[in-house]
Amino acid sequence: MAMSEDTTQSGPVNPRGLPIRREFGILPADNFTGYRSFKAGSFAFSRDGYFAHIRSGEISHQMPVDAFLRALMRDVAWGFFYGTVNFDGVLGTTNFYGEVELFLGAMNESFRAAKRDHTERFKADELMAVFKEMISDWTNHGYDPFAAPMETGIAWGHKHGDNDRAVTRKRVTAKRMVGLPGDTPVRSDANGYPVNRMFADVEQTQPLVFAEPGFEHEVSAFNLFAYLSRSDVTWNPSVCSVVRESLFCPTSEEFILPVEHGNDRCEWFLQLSDEIIWKTKDRDTGRDRATVVQRAGDISCMPADIRHTGYSTKRSMLLVWENGSPKIPDLIRDGKAPVVAVEF
Ligand SMILES: [Fe+2]
Repeated sequence: MAMSEDTTQSGPVNPRGLPIRREFGILPADNFTGYRSFKAGSFAFSRDGYFAHIRSGEISHQMPVDAFLRALMRDVAWGFFYGTVNFDGVLGTTNFYGEVELFLGAMNESFRAAKRDHTERFKADELMAVFKEMISDWTNHGYDPFAAPMETGIAWGHKHGDNDRAVTRKRVTAKRMVGLPGDTPVRSDANGYPVNRMFADVEQTQPLVFAEPGFEHEVSAFNLFAYLSRSDVTWNPSVCSVVRESLFCPTSEEFILPVEHGNDRCEWFLQLSDEIIWKTKDRDTGRDRATVVQRAGDISCMPADIRHTGYSTKRSMLLVWENGSPKIPDLIRDGKAPVVAVEF
């Protein structure tokens, strides 16, 4: 669920054969609401006190602006992520790693049946630049789209201030492992990561490492539970250890995963504490497929042909385990790799 920093590829595939759109626009602030509007290709984005409005041609789509900003925040922070990020059942992006598709209704059975779906393709860095301007302009003072609802102010109303400190957070991407010399640091009170209110009982001691002489810089350990108890964001899997393409991406979760993630590879979920209810649907149609209830110690593997979101009432700890190989989506698309990790 999180990408390594260095995703190499031999060139983006383009199954729809779409041209690259390069028309972008940022319109002046509206005299009434104070918000700017944004254009990417034929897509127009605007917001008011309650809603984000997304239009393309005859299609006009609305989302509650808090839900839109929570989804946009993940798409921005994750660099369009693996596969598809569905903001809801209509709007979303699909990552082709260097290029990205933006769509209305392309992953919605009813839109497609009515031939009302619309998709355009962009250079990933160019669409990302517009998305970053949008999340900055549309996020008001006191609202943090990364935070649990009970730990943030509100998204509503006319433009008032900003929260760029929150929306420009750098996601953790360890090169080898958290806590190694020169790598991303262990969290503490001293570096601005207090223990979250829901993890006050989590043991905070760190393991002692006794390395053989000469191996002091090759042996390391840290308390992952303590690390996660100090996460200031939710639903933001971050790379904490890397062994070739094997990425451990732990995260703390509260309320709802703000997107429906459409997988382009299998994805392992190891529930480290408490409980998450996963709602899984068919990746391409959105038809309901299964509900998976995971409690501490449970492990699941999401297939490569689903989309999923998750609910977590009590803040919980989840380890997402990814194979970050850039070859996997093509192998699955060509039928050379299975969509499930295990066949019984
Ligand atoms: Fe996922």
